[in-house]
Amino acid sequence: MPAYAIIGGQWGDEGKGKIVDFLTADAQAVVRFSGGNNAGHTVMNDEGEFKFHLVPSGIVWPHPICIIGNGVVVDPVGLLAEIDGLQRHKIDVSRLVISDRAHVIMPYHIALDGLEEKARGKDALGTTGRGIGPAYMDKVARWGIRMGELKDVVGLRARLEALVAQKNAHIKLYDGEPFDASELYERCLAWSEQLGDYIQPTEALIEDMLARGDAILLEGAQGALLDLDHGTYPYVTSSSATVGGAITGSGVHPRHLKGIMGVFKAYTTRVGAGPMPSELDDEVGNTIRERAWEYGTTTGRPRRCGWFDAVAARYSASVNGFTSAVLTRLDVLDGLGPVKVCVAYKLDGEIITRFPSSASVLERCEPVLEEFEGWDNPTAGLQNMKDLPRQAKTYVRRLEDLIGCPISIISTGPKREETVLVHPVL
Ligand code: IMP
Repeated sequence: MPAYAIIGGQWGDEGKGKIVDFLTADAQAVVRFSGGNNAGHTVMNDEGEFKFHLVPSGIVWPHPICIIGNGVVVDPVGLLAEIDGLQRHKIDVSRLVISDRAHVIMPYHIALDGLEEKARGKDALGTTGRGIGPAYMDKVARWGIRMGELKDVVGLRARLEALVAQKNAHIKLYDGEPFDASELYERCLAWSEQLGDYIQPTEALIEDMLARGDAILLEGAQGALLDLDHGTYPYVTSSSATVGGAITGSGVHPRHLKGIMGVFKAYTTRVGAGPMPSELDDEVGNTIRERAWEYGTTTGRPRRCGWFDAVAARYSASVNGFTSAVLTRLDVLDGLGPVKVCVAYKLDGEIITRFPSSASVLERCEPVLEEFEGWDNPTAGLQNMKDLPRQAKTYVRRLEDLIGCPISIISTGPKREETVLVHPVL
């Protein structure tokens, strides 16, 4: 009956893809529960390097069922390209299931994402431009089209007429190009043809697996600090990236959850606009970026780099109830010299240890840093805790204290085997 949620503990890009891939060895299904193709999950194995945006990272294994859950917004064009890439690598995609309740990202959502960002001017959020916000807006406003409707197109044409008129009125406000309902209907028919077999109700499938005792991984996208409610609003994404989203976005109820794993990089990164108190706007930040190739998997944008932010991490652990933490990219800090951790913020002359809810207050916070001795002996590729250099062990133990839960896995490189399993989690 167990389900395990794998949640980004920071601002996304924590390396969840590699961790999901590692854990899939002992799981029978992987469910993506939120976001869309704004995400970029990288998996590296003997067959090569795979970058997933929508398809659950477990797909590279031969055994698991991989579900795109109801909480996801699906760009059919992006998904078809991803399926095509997998088929070219001879990966069996017949195990892919798309919830009929997931919403479609339509071309007008992508257009509106760009137009709204432009209209915000200097206050632009730095979105990925994939239509995520406008698609979730339509879901909440009950204007959305669900994947199930692509299979049952009766009535869709008439609905599209009304929808497209409404969208075009919105687009006109920004002087954008209008869309043609008939042309969009034709595209929907093509998507129906190409994706129809993957689209199914997922409730009974999930219920049966849990009843059999199968282990299901709930694969998060983005991170807790980008969560619509709990993140650094308005510099957030439009979905629930925290554990609540794992429940609503998959249909797995909370009593099935046996573990909630928070994935944290050994430092911090952020893409797009918004406050980031531990950001390093200097040579150390540049070194981390280049050494770790911190450029967006989806947009190629350079990621902002900084020290591990323990105030944010503790907050993230508290809103998610992490049963354990996973520390990734420890090897990036090898030979970097002294390593620092942001343990508190200085706000208007006072020391605070709670993560503020207001982005403008967070913007005024300065990091209070604790310094650690660096390590020259590499952690890269290590598989046993006992082999970690003494200083790296001290660093890991201190992060464990600060986050407030045990660290169960440490990733020491991009490959599956470059992993320290501190204690079993499934
Ligand atoms: P959106 O999700 O495209 O609307 O973008 C909203 C914010 O979330 C922007 O700052 C993006 O850079 C950020 N974001 C969205 N997806 C990811 C991700 O997978 N990793 C890191 N940042 C992301």
